[in-house]
Amino acid sequence: MSASVHVPVMLREVLRELDLKPGLTVVDGTVGAGGHSQKISEQIGENGVLIGLDRDSMMLNFAAERVSGAGRHLIQSSYSEIKNVLNELGIDTVDRILLDLGLSSDQLADRQRGFGYSVDAPLDMRFDNRSGQSVEEYLANVDQAKLTEVLTTYGEEKFSEAIAQTIVERRRKQPIETTRDLTETLEEAIPARFRKQARKDPATRVFQALRIAVNQELTHLEQALQTELYEALKPGGRLSIITFHSLEDRLVKNAFRDDNRWKVLAKKPTAPTPAEVRMNPRSRSAKLRTAAKL
Ligand SMILES: C[S@@+](CC[C@H](N)C(=O)[O-])C[C@H]1O[C@@H](n2cnc3c(N)ncnc32)[C@H](O)[C@@H]1O
Repeated sequence: MSASVHVPVMLREVLRELDLKPGLTVVDGTVGAGGHSQKISEQIGENGVLIGLDRDSMMLNFAAERVSGAGRHLIQSSYSEIKNVLNELGIDTVDRILLDLGLSSDQLADRQRGFGYSVDAPLDMRFDNRSGQSVEEYLANVDQAKLTEVLTTYGEEKFSEAIAQTIVERRRKQPIETTRDLTETLEEAIPARFRKQARKDPATRVFQALRIAVNQELTHLEQALQTELYEALKPGGRLSIITFHSLEDRLVKNAFRDDNRWKVLAKKPTAPTPAEVRMNPRSRSAKLRTAAKL
């Protein structure tokens, strides 16, 4: 396995807001390549317990390079199943939880799974390929109106109607199986002059929307925010969440604001510094919010 290329976002800010101490029990609910967890592990020390979860087994292999030893657990699970995981470990509640949502740069760089459009690969994009639909299967079956809605809401794509229509027309003639099949379809759907004008390649938005849809990312977040994350924390425990999409951020902001069992650390989310955005452009849309359980 090659080394991880993922750079953890707002590492200093996350550590500050989590306010870690030796001996604490922490869940990193989206452990990825363990960039944040490696530092969390150092700060909680050998008497602390760290549980790293990820839906993607490939990411857990990356994390194992950085997080191992006594009191360190890496488990393939969604963070929305946090209570079951803790039950199985015989742990009642924890002191801190971190979620760093979305996709890792290592997944984007994976040449087998079709997360990015720059390499030709099968269109899968599932974090956990043991269940659920791949993007190929999704595009073969989804209703045109539903697809338009997904591209509009998850991708904020203004050509979603034309794209959905072109996808449905193309799949009648041949299946859309690879990233190249999909990018060709997008080129057909969006006039070249609009593609050139766009600040962000429309393919970025469409790939993001399809990834969010097949992994049901917002459903996992919404469900976890309703009960699981709250119940998994000790009173006074902290939950920090990094989001990359306005819909995710809205869910987190509203959950913290509308529920008086949470005390938010700051009304405004923490953003990366301009220096971080220059060094790691992936961080530009990141927002970090932290709340304490009352
Ligand atoms: C941005 S990366 C995390 C990077 C990590 N903080 C680091 O520094 O290396 C997001 C990770 O969350 C995982 N993921 C996405 N949704 C998840 C969920 N519902 N439960 C657990 N892991 C999830 C992805 O597979 C990916 O590895």
